[in-house]
Amino acid sequence: MMRFDRTARLLCVVAAGLALALAGRAQSADSQPAAPAAAATLTIDASKAVAKVSPTLYGLMTEEINYSYEGGLYGELLENGTFQRAWDDATWIVTPRGTARGSITVDKTTGPSAALPTSLQVTVTQADAANPLGLRNEGWWGIPVRPNETFHGSFYAKADTAGTEIKVSLIANDTGKVIATATLPPVGTDWKQYTFTLHAGEVAASSRNQLMVEFNRPGTVWLQLASLFGPTYHDRVNGNRSDIMELLAAMHPAFLRMPGGNYLEGDHINERFDWKKTIGPLVDRPGHRSPWNYWSTDGFGLLEYLEWCEDLHMQPVLAVYAGYSLRQEFVAPGPALEPYVQDAVDEIEYVTGDVTTKWGAERAKDGHPAPFPLTYVEIGNEDYFDKSNSYEGRFAQFYDAIKKAYPALQVIATAPVKSRTPDVLDQHYYRRADEFFADVHHYDTTDRNGPKIFVGEWATREGTPATNFGAALGDAAWMSGMERNSDIIVMSSYAPLFVNVNPGGMQWRSDLIGYDAFSSYGSPSYYAQAMFANHIGTEIVASELKGAGDRFFYSVTRDAAKGVVYLKLVNASSSAQQLKISLDGVKGVKPDAKLITLSAATTAETNSITDPRRVVPVESIVKGVGKEFTRTVPGYSIEVLEISAR
Ligand code: AHR
Repeated sequence: MMRFDRTARLLCVVAAGLALALAGRAQSADSQPAAPAAAATLTIDASKAVAKVSPTLYGLMTEEINYSYEGGLYGELLENGTFQRAWDDATWIVTPRGTARGSITVDKTTGPSAALPTSLQVTVTQADAANPLGLRNEGWWGIPVRPNETFHGSFYAKADTAGTEIKVSLIANDTGKVIATATLPPVGTDWKQYTFTLHAGEVAASSRNQLMVEFNRPGTVWLQLASLFGPTYHDRVNGNRSDIMELLAAMHPAFLRMPGGNYLEGDHINERFDWKKTIGPLVDRPGHRSPWNYWSTDGFGLLEYLEWCEDLHMQPVLAVYAGYSLRQEFVAPGPALEPYVQDAVDEIEYVTGDVTTKWGAERAKDGHPAPFPLTYVEIGNEDYFDKSNSYEGRFAQFYDAIKKAYPALQVIATAPVKSRTPDVLDQHYYRRADEFFADVHHYDTTDRNGPKIFVGEWATREGTPATNFGAALGDAAWMSGMERNSDIIVMSSYAPLFVNVNPGGMQWRSDLIGYDAFSSYGSPSYYAQAMFANHIGTEIVASELKGAGDRFFYSVTRDAAKGVVYLKLVNASSSAQQLKISLDGVKGVKPDAKLITLSAATTAETNSITDPRRVVPVESIVKGVGKEFTRTVPGYSIEVLEISAR
């Protein structure tokens, strides 16, 4: 049963042809008003399994882009908590009350750790209890507060003289109302972490809030690693936003390709995803610049990716840095590459090793004694962009070392190589809908004796910030082709996954899931993917389509154990398509079939942060299904028909 807990509307139609009035749009399960194109025939032989469907066909791809983690999935609510962005001083704003006076600057000479050697110096020249000097942070385009939520915060601090009391408060921007407040023990002269808890009462739900940090007497105080978390998914400490996790959970993704993408590589070698600097206590993580041009504190580091996988029952597809960064910097194969290869082998041990191994023990120390499952390791990202042509040698060196240490692992190449045969080849497609329509047979003739295929990034790029229904049609057409070829396409993942819809939040114009500080929504493409992934089947069965228009696409799979045939029908034309369907190779067919429809009035119709449920799947029952039946697929629609047939 497909679950769209937050957004689905479930409608059951009890009689064939019964018209439904739905969201202002008249629909019926088996007919629609536009003049249908000439009838086509779809012949299915469900007893002939052509190939197996890959159970890992649908997964997720992720990286720090479009404020995916910080300002997105990651539950940290404060922006610039490590004061890396003090040059634009828009994140921490001096806010004096009454006669209080003071200023802030970044002090490069003191910090709480080797990883965070700098701090924010707050010079309070005038303040008292009635006139404190405040410092406010408005979060990532707001701090969301809902009634009765609890917030956990912390920062490192030291003062020039012991005794300064710091007060922290959540304040509503528009009214100045103090939602919750806490006073910390007096700050000492050595670096120490201070923690606090804030409870919101019966407040109005809003993200128009700020965290205020107040100082009640003159002196100098240094701050570092300021943090604030509200409730998180599964109550994880340092965890994720629940609403976005729920959207992802509803897709039932089989895997997570992580941590990139360009983010793995960095613009420069010293800006790569250097995993060893992303684990352990947050105070020991220096952070780094993302190639998408903003700072990552790496509070969302390797272990957080893995726990994300665990929470959603996904297997990680681990991409390891392979000695190439985006500005054409590369490490020559041979001795210079050795430390990078060793880093990758260590990384695999951190993910999979038991607690008796060096890096497995490190993971246990970080709070996760149990190893994570791992089947696939990807060597780099889009290495066909490396103009030095060093990938051939780099891949071979990584491949040999990984296969020696972990013979069972499947190794993925990101560009064709000759000296080794990769287990899997990663291929990327960013296209217009018409390009996908024209290429749905792309993999029909691919050599089945070569490497398996991972379509590690793909998307129809239409609509922004999240894609529109026209994109969903392109995506669904492409998915029908991938599904038909999922004997060779073992995995696929759309990209990019996330976008923060606030001004300045987006670096890539077409994305799957949008959000602001307060809420999130799936694009029509999101729903198309969820429909496909939740009705995947185990076998591709023999079928033939004749006479349909050139914008009509389909896929037929079966789950014999469940006694179900899944028919996916994609009508990217504005006209309805009549289909005469013969379902052979089964003894009996239940006349009632479940129909899930995603449709729109135009290809530009879409969901948005203010209208998140405009285009969502609608579930109904179609009657009269049998070994021979007809179905009229409305124009601009994506349908999944779940037929009980044994
Ligand atoms: O998905 C956005 C970017 O597109 C990825 O980071 C990169 O791998 C690709 O070029």
